[in-house]
Amino acid sequence: MVGQITRGTTGTNRLRRVDRWIARHPVLRRAADPLVIDLGYGASGVTAFELWTRLAAARADVEVLGLEIDPARVRGARAQLQRVRAGSTPFAPHAHVSFARGGFEVPVAGGRRPAIIRAMNVLRQYDQADVPAAWRSMATRLAPGGLLVEGTCDELGRIATWAAIGPDAVPRTFTVSLRLAGLERPSVAAERLPKALIHRNVPGERVHAFLTALDDEWERAANVSPFGPVHRWRTALSALHSAGWPVLERSRWQLGEATLPWNAVAPA
Ligand SMILES: C[S@@+](CC[C@H](N)C(=O)[O-])C[C@H]1O[C@@H](n2cnc3c(N)ncnc32)[C@H](O)[C@@H]1O
Repeated sequence: MVGQITRGTTGTNRLRRVDRWIARHPVLRRAADPLVIDLGYGASGVTAFELWTRLAAARADVEVLGLEIDPARVRGARAQLQRVRAGSTPFAPHAHVSFARGGFEVPVAGGRRPAIIRAMNVLRQYDQADVPAAWRSMATRLAPGGLLVEGTCDELGRIATWAAIGPDAVPRTFTVSLRLAGLERPSVAAERLPKALIHRNVPGERVHAFLTALDDEWERAANVSPFGPVHRWRTALSALHSAGWPVLERSRWQLGEATLPWNAVAPA
């Protein structure tokens, strides 16, 4: 089994921002076999049930397999699944969710290849040097055109960032997603960057330049604050875009998201 047991911290609703990004992603919508892996789900299976619930609204035949390297956590999640089946939880008793033991080798019965692997708050507890091999191990298990979504968030899920990586283990995009109400500075995301970037938030690195420019535009857009934080965020991102930052997915800006091609923030 590839990897090591780490702290199992998780929580209800913690991964909502990344879930809703995946839910509308064409990779999920077009998948021939909509199998999604929740890799390293932690001390409870709650994020796997939430993932299924959110994705099933977009793709009714989605199936979620939670994989954990800690056998005790697999036993715990399977007991939780029994309670879900019995109807004694808020989750649908028929939720197409299962749990198994596994690591970065992403074992799936019958050799099925997942359309999406979501690995949130898993690599955070590894060394930066472990990232390329972990990405490769997971990404090469994907179905053609599939995505590995690997990132980090805070305990309450108000600050989240993630990389989307293709089956060739090459990252495609970087996303930051923030709760805008009460946001002081977008660079608060620096503490929750994916492991591949967290040590790169220093002058001379692209991700540092991006977060600095985002802070500057957020500050400059303070004059539109009376129209609300969403308006302020959109104003800031429009200015960044005009300045040459290739901010993608304009229709999602209102959610407090900014997605860029990975190259725009990649380590120098
Ligand atoms: C901090 S928890 C994250 C839980 C959940 N994904 C979340 O974001 O709330 C990290 C979990 O990943 C598991 N883990 C670490 N390395 C793993 C690996 N290589 N394969 C599977 N699970 C792993 C740990 O055992 C731990 O339970």
